[in-house]
Amino acid sequence: RLSNPLRPAILAAARSSKLKAALTKAPVTRRIVTRFIAGETRPEVLKVVAALLESGRVISIDFLGEDTTDRAQAEATVGEYLALLDDLAGLRLPASMNPNNEIAPLEVSMKLSALGQALPVDGDKIATQNARTVCEHAQRLGIWVTIDAEDHTTTDSTLRIVRELRTEFPWLGAVLQSYLRRTEADCRELAGPGSRIRLCKGAYREPESVAYQSRSEVDASYRRCLEILMLGAGYPMVASHDPEIIAAAGDMTRRTDRGRDTFEQQMLFGIRDVEQLRLAAEGYTMRVYVPYGAQWYGYFMRRLAERPSNLRFFLRSIATV
Ligand code: FDA
Repeated sequence: RLSNPLRPAILAAARSSKLKAALTKAPVTRRIVTRFIAGETRPEVLKVVAALLESGRVISIDFLGEDTTDRAQAEATVGEYLALLDDLAGLRLPASMNPNNEIAPLEVSMKLSALGQALPVDGDKIATQNARTVCEHAQRLGIWVTIDAEDHTTTDSTLRIVRELRTEFPWLGAVLQSYLRRTEADCRELAGPGSRIRLCKGAYREPESVAYQSRSEVDASYRRCLEILMLGAGYPMVASHDPEIIAAAGDMTRRTDRGRDTFEQQMLFGIRDVEQLRLAAEGYTMRVYVPYGAQWYGYFMRRLAERPSNLRFFLRSIATV
C-alpha cells in the first residue's frame, strides 16, 4: 500500500474535480466500481447486506459522501441515514445471529465531514447535532454507529465530537489510523471500558510531520496500537486485510486471554472475500464495511491508491472495453 509509488499521484487525483467529472460519467467506471461499492441506492445495498448476513458476516454500512459544503446537503445525508436505519431494522437476521447478543450485527459508519463538520460557520456544532440525530435513532433500533477517520486536520475535532457523544451513547465507535504519529496516545486514552475502536492503517495522503511514511513504520505502529487496545478494557475492531496484522491480532488475543466476543475483525466490501468467509467460519465476528451511494469517487480512488493490483485491475478493465 504505502510502497505503491503511484499512491501520492492517485490520492492527489482523488481531489481533482475535473477527473472526478470525467470518470464518474464514463460507463466503464460504473461497471468497475461495483467491485468496491455495493450500489448507488438503498435497495441495492440492502440486497448485498442480506447476502452478507446470510453468509455469517455482520456489516457496517457507509452512505458515501464527504466534504459537504452546504447545510442542506448535510441534512439530506442525515435523512438518508435515518431511512437506512429503518430499512436495516426491517431486515430478517439469520437465526444464527442471536438478537440478545451484545454484539450488534448491524452498524452504520459515518463521516463527520458529510454531516457538516467542514462548514465555515458552526461546522463542529452542526456535525455534532446531525450525528446525535442519527445516534438517537440507531439506539432505538439496536444498531451501532461508528465515526470514520478522515484526514489529520479533522482528527482533533472528530475525537472531541466522539467524546461528547459518547457521554450519551457509550456504544458509539471511533476510527483511529496507525499511520498518524499521535495514534498510540489516542489509543491509550480511548482503550477504556466499553470503548469501541476501529483500528486501521489510514487511507489519506499525510505529511511526514504528522504521519509515518513507510509501510514498515505504519505496520509497526499498528501492532503497538493494537496491543494497547487489546490490553485495554474496550472492544477493539481490527480493520485490515493484511495477513500479518490478522495473525498478530490472533496472537495478541491469545496472550491477553480475550474471548472472541470481546473484539472483531473487519474488512472492506469486495476485498479478500474468501478470507472474510474463513474468519467467519472460524467463529470470529467478521464485519464487512459496505459503502453505497452516488458519491463514490473519493472512496474508489483511495482503494485504487492502496494497491497496485487494484489499479492494474482498473486499467485492464478500461483497456478491454
Ligand atoms: P495494506 O493495504 O497495507 O495491505 C497489506 C496486505 O494485505 C497486502 O500486502 C496483501 O497481502 C493484503 N491485501 C490488501 N488488499 C488486498 C486485496 N485487495 N486482495 C488481496 N490481498 C490484499 N481508512 C481511513 O483513513 N479512515 C477510515 O475511517 C477507514 N475505515 C476503514 C474501515 C474498515 C472496516 C477497513 C477494513 C478499512 C478502513 N480504512 C479507513 C482503510 C484503511 O486505512 C486502509 O487504507 C485499508 O484497509 C488498507 O490497509 P490494510 O490494513 O488492509 O493493508
